[in-house]
Amino acid sequence: MEHSLLSAIGNTPLVRLDNLPLGDSASLWAKLEFLNPGGSVKDRIVRYIVADAQRRGLLQPGGTIVENTSGNTGAAIAMVAAQQGYRAILTMPDKVSAEKQAVLRAMGAEVVVCPTKARPGDPDHYVQRARDIHAGLHGSFMINQYDNPLNAEAHYLTTGPEIWEQTGGHIDLFVASGSTGGTICGVGRYLKEKDPSIKIVLLDPVGSIYYTYFYTDAVDESEIAPYAVEGVGEDHLAGCMDFSLIDEVVRFTDEDAFGAARLLARSQGLMCGGSSGANVWGAMVLSGRHPGASIVTVLPDMGIKYLSKIYCQAARAPRVAEPALG
Ligand SMILES: Cc1ncc(COP(=O)(O)O)c(C=O)c1O
Repeated sequence: MEHSLLSAIGNTPLVRLDNLPLGDSASLWAKLEFLNPGGSVKDRIVRYIVADAQRRGLLQPGGTIVENTSGNTGAAIAMVAAQQGYRAILTMPDKVSAEKQAVLRAMGAEVVVCPTKARPGDPDHYVQRARDIHAGLHGSFMINQYDNPLNAEAHYLTTGPEIWEQTGGHIDLFVASGSTGGTICGVGRYLKEKDPSIKIVLLDPVGSIYYTYFYTDAVDESEIAPYAVEGVGEDHLAGCMDFSLIDEVVRFTDEDAFGAARLLARSQGLMCGGSSGANVWGAMVLSGRHPGASIVTVLPDMGIKYLSKIYCQAARAPRVAEPALG
């Protein structure tokens, strides 16, 4: 039996969320992805992509892993690199909080901070910087989570089957927000192969391009706008996002996501991040449209990272608004 830290990735619990305002006899189940050892759903893809690179000789012992990331993927890379003796170079925009940078450095990663105002394609832009470092560092390996098909494959091979087994196949809807699309497309593909009647619903923040792209087949650049929820939505089409697997896209606001995150904390004792709030908000809304449905979602990371952003406001707010159903 394997006892390494990386063997603790995956097989997360699926719990039923009670005491939430759900539609008629609907049930909501959440996969606790924040219980992965690196603290998020991203442990799954980093472990899988690194193992594949090792097998194919793309990453040699003592080699370097490079990626542009501001959050959970960076933490997963730093963890795997510390465990397996790799150098990790992570580029990020300077808007990323000092605490998040410190977490990565604490695990030995090198953090390259780039100006947030740099435009995509500029040598100073954090994505371009990672590409340039990778290109200039012979033998380095880039995870490339947005366009690497192994991202969705990791979820197809682990998260999807786990959900199928944990629900005994009793699932009507899988609901999740997405950035790279790895989670929703990997899980969605597995579940649809098992039962094509299962509906896959993407939740997309206002300010992201996915909602309009799904319904019109076109990117409307005028819709790109800042929003506060982290880790979901996009301003470009990620290669991993396969819309043929998605049945519906529902839009949410920061208020929807953060309100539901606070509701989750107060009603369940589950303190999660904003994307978890978005996922629970979406599940509640959809439960109003699908009476009796068994709905599954994921809680990608924990709320401790967003205390000042999501929860300190809650301390001042006397009541949390509940989302309208349907
Ligand atoms: C907090 C959080 N939630 C959700 C996601 C979305 O996951 P995916 O990239 O698999 O679509 C991410 C991705 O970075 C994330 O960091």
